[in-house]
Amino acid sequence: MSLDWTKAFAPRALKLTASEIRELLKLINQPDIISFAGGIPDPALFPHAVLAETFHEILSNPETRGAALQYSVSEGYQPLREWLAQTYLPKVGIATHADNILITNGSQQGLEFLAKLFIGTGDRIIVTNPSYLGALQAFSLYEPTFVTVPVQGEGVDLAALETEMAKGAKFFYLTPDFGNPCGVTVPLDQRRAMLELAYRYGVPVIEDSAYDQLRYDGEPVPPLLALDNERVNQPRPLSEATAQGQVIYTGTFSKSIVPALRIGWVVAPQPVLQKLVLMKQASDLHTPTLNQMAMFKVADKIIFDHAAGIRSIYRDRRDAMLAAMKDFMPQGVTWTEPEGGMFVWVTLPEGLDAAELLAKAIPEIRVAFVPGAAFYPDRSGKNTIRLSFSVPPPERIREGIKRLGGLLTAAVEALKVKA
Ligand SMILES: Cc1ncc(COP(=O)(O)O)c(C=O)c1O
Repeated sequence: MSLDWTKAFAPRALKLTASEIRELLKLINQPDIISFAGGIPDPALFPHAVLAETFHEILSNPETRGAALQYSVSEGYQPLREWLAQTYLPKVGIATHADNILITNGSQQGLEFLAKLFIGTGDRIIVTNPSYLGALQAFSLYEPTFVTVPVQGEGVDLAALETEMAKGAKFFYLTPDFGNPCGVTVPLDQRRAMLELAYRYGVPVIEDSAYDQLRYDGEPVPPLLALDNERVNQPRPLSEATAQGQVIYTGTFSKSIVPALRIGWVVAPQPVLQKLVLMKQASDLHTPTLNQMAMFKVADKIIFDHAAGIRSIYRDRRDAMLAAMKDFMPQGVTWTEPEGGMFVWVTLPEGLDAAELLAKAIPEIRVAFVPGAAFYPDRSGKNTIRLSFSVPPPERIREGIKRLGGLLTAAVEALKVKA
């Protein structure tokens, strides 16, 4: 008799299903497909030469190679934690201490640890609708009750947030800057209002800042953690003050340098951080020290110049996409105009199904995108699409949007006929 594995698995494992994004990425590697599907950085922009030189330097130096290849502490490579606390995070207005930082294997690991730390079966967690799929996947494993608050062009629906926070929740998760998937930036007054609600109802906030270096225009808006710092900072010393904050912040070099080294971080109050360190120990002991050392040296040398360079390239691509959308999208289709990040979020007229359109788009017009329903915990949003502009050059973007515009024009016409 063959074993029924699904009966052997824990119930939570049954929640793990292949994401549409991953399944899609398998299909779209053919060179003639114009892909707006993956939310990935352009590999042509990776700083490979400085990485090669840095790895060589670390491994050829007898004073560094032993430590680089040895086991290490779970908290992370201390010079990297200090650089983040003293150089990188203050640039976005965050005052913190190295002791409040855990280095993780990408920020994805931080999100997974936070899920493990906070969510018991059935616990209410609040997420924006839509939300980053990877976070939803990480949270799902711990079997929460997802409660959603809408996010649109003007930001998050604060009335809905208040209603849900008042009922209690383990945390509220959001990506306030050019969020994945919908590219929306939460305005300053809303950030302050959210924090007030979080304080009033005692709900921790998880702020995912994955795209912090990718702002193309407009003024930066301080992270919620910076606003949280303002409230609790004075006149206490920093490490003590951050212990009293209510915002947990995740960051990463995946979008601004390279994802492959898997260097992310969590900034958290001490009681949270201490638990996360124990989870890190239990999970994988530590993030590879060689990668942390290399990232520390590379980031210190190039991050701000490199980020400025990639910003100007991604800005051109975003502009190419927005211009083409104006030229080729039919009436009734709307989209966001992101100030940064990698995504334009498209809303189709009610009645159109983006998944059905994708099934046509790949074979017929050789264009790929992600149907938006994947980003809704309740699988609504069938008439939405996520388009990423980070990889194709501007002329391919224009051609892809022209083809997509043709497909959508036909779909909108067909919908009218049906009605
Ligand atoms: C909003 C958001 N958060 C977190 C991540 C995870 O990134 P990483 O684990 O590479 O740091 C991503 C990756 O796409 C993302 O879009």
